[in-house]
Order: sequence, then structure tokens, then C-alpha cells
Amino acid sequence: MTVRAGGYRLVNNSGRLYYPNSTQHKGMTLRVSQPQRGVKVQRNDPCPCGSGKKYKRCCGSSSTQERPKTHPQKPKIRLKTEADILGIRRAGQLVLDTLDMVESRLAPGLTTDEINTWVHEFTLKHNAIPAPLNYRGFPKSVCTSVNEVICHGIPGPRVLKEGDILNVDVTSILSGYYADANKTYFIGSPGSSAQKIVAVARQSLKEGLTMVKPGNTVGDIGWAIQAYAESQGCSVVRDFVGHGIGFDFHEPPQVPHFGQRGDGVYLVPGMVFTIEPMINLGGHELVILEDQWTAVTKDGSLSAQFEQTILVTDEGWESLTPYPL
Ligand code: MF3
Ligand code: CO
Ligand code: CO
Repeated sequence: MTVRAGGYRLVNNSGRLYYPNSTQHKGMTLRVSQPQRGVKVQRNDPCPCGSGKKYKRCCGSSSTQERPKTHPQKPKIRLKTEADILGIRRAGQLVLDTLDMVESRLAPGLTTDEINTWVHEFTLKHNAIPAPLNYRGFPKSVCTSVNEVICHGIPGPRVLKEGDILNVDVTSILSGYYADANKTYFIGSPGSSAQKIVAVARQSLKEGLTMVKPGNTVGDIGWAIQAYAESQGCSVVRDFVGHGIGFDFHEPPQVPHFGQRGDGVYLVPGMVFTIEPMINLGGHELVILEDQWTAVTKDGSLSAQFEQTILVTDEGWESLTPYPL
């Protein structure tokens, strides 16, 4: 039986989700449902991880100690304990404080290298490490991506000017834990295309978040983002994705911001990953500059992004880098 045809999920006659590898369907009438935005997995339901155990005896155990240490469908995904979550939340607060510090100083006439100096010094002053510095050869402590730069802009002599949009992407390591978040800011007053792409990028992250709950999949997140962004005439970057995070900068799973309902692993409590849709005003194609890092839109159109580090909870999700969207 195909349980994921077209990204649909089978549900039993009580309206609960049916998961592959469980025996829950025997003797039940099954019908097909959309991924659910609101309904919670119940404690006696089969665990969405596919273990065949009851949710309450598996990923839904009220004690994080009793939960599996890794995702039963994909053991390379390490689930986070209560102590890990505290550590990532603390790193996340520092990331937010760093973004606020930068925002308060932004003005036309600054260079992106000045922002790098602020982030570097602020991070060290708070006993943390800027994760980008020397990461796979990245030469600076923060990513600064202006206008047509999609992501991984290297701080340098570029001078910010009135009407630019600027994404500042901060990742800090505090007591061994990583948190990652970014925002796109206006420099001075934005024109109408800048306003549009930033609004669509912000709402794209919100759309993705509506899908985050145990029993939905990674593909549901990407599907919701893509459906929304394309409905606004914008495009979703394919070449960079969200990622597991916490013990390391980039962990499994990958979290594409496009795709099919029902694809990818089931979300279970204790997963921590980023959602960070990069949205272009024109086409999704990109070019990497000679510095081997800076990704720009192929057609030169504006690109914007918002990123948060998200914990899957029993209820749905909690941002470990929470800021209003
Ligand atoms: N912070 C980026 C992300 O959201 C990754 C930057 S990698 C770097 O995943 F090397 F450019 F810093
Ligand atoms: Co990230
Ligand atoms: Co980031």
C-alpha cells in the first residue's frame, strides 16, 4: 500500500494519522488526508517515527531521557535532551542579542566589514565563538548578504547605501552548543521591490513553521514554503537548505524550502533544525562568485531570507532563536 502517494497521508476512521510500519490500519477504514497543521499526535497513537511503538512509549515520552537518542527512521539524526535544549536556547539568546546589537547600529555609509568586527568582538566578549570563522575556509565571523546576494556574503569593503537590503546571518557556539539565525534589514527607506521581497521571505518562514509538529514531515515544510512563495510570484532557492543544528553547525536532516508533501523524515520531538528560506524576486537560479562563497541571483534580482533555529515539541514547535515575524 502506498502511504505517501502524492504526499497524502492515510488516516483511520477516528481521523488520526496512519503511519508506515505500524499495524494500526488493520481492520480500519482508511481515508486520505492533507498534512495537518493543527491536530496533535495523541499519546496512544503509533509513533510517527515508524518504530511501531505507541507515541507515549517512544518519541512522545514525557521524559526526554526515555526518548530515543537518535531518529528511529534515520539514526544519523541526533535528538536533543532537555539539557541540550537549554544549551542551544542559551546560544540562541546570544545570537538574538548579536542581531539586535547590529540592527541598532545599521546606517547608510557603513561597510560590511565593520559589521563583522562588531559581531566578532561581541561574540568573544560573551565567551562564545563565531561559528562561521574558518568554517570550511570561510574567512569572517558573520555572513552579510546585500541585495542580489542570496547568502554567504563575505564582509568586506562594500559600503551600504540608502535603499539596500542586508541579511545578517549569525551563528554562535556557546558552551559547545550551536544556534543559527538571520534577518533581512532595510538600510534607510526601502523601495517597493525591497519591501515586497522582504515581506514574502518573512512570511515564507512563517508558512514553514505552520507545518512543524510531530507526524508531519520535512517535505511538508518545504511544500508550504514553495506554495506560498510561488503564489506571490517569487522563487525559492534550491541549492541551499535548512539543516539540523545543535551539536554541530550543519547536521542531518537537510530541510529543503521546496518539495512535496509527505517527503522526507517524520518530525519527532527533540529534533532541532533551522528553517531559512531564501526567496528571490526573479528566478531561483544562482551563481557562486570567484571567492567560492558569495551566492548571487543569476538574474540580478533581489533576494531575502529569515532564519530561526527550531525545536520540534510535543505540541508543535518552539523557536530557540525566537524573534517576532
Ligand atoms: N549561517 C549559514 C546557515 O544558515 C551558514 C554559513 S556558513 C559560512 O547555514 F561559512 F558561510 F559561515
Ligand atoms: Co542555517
Ligand atoms: Co545561518
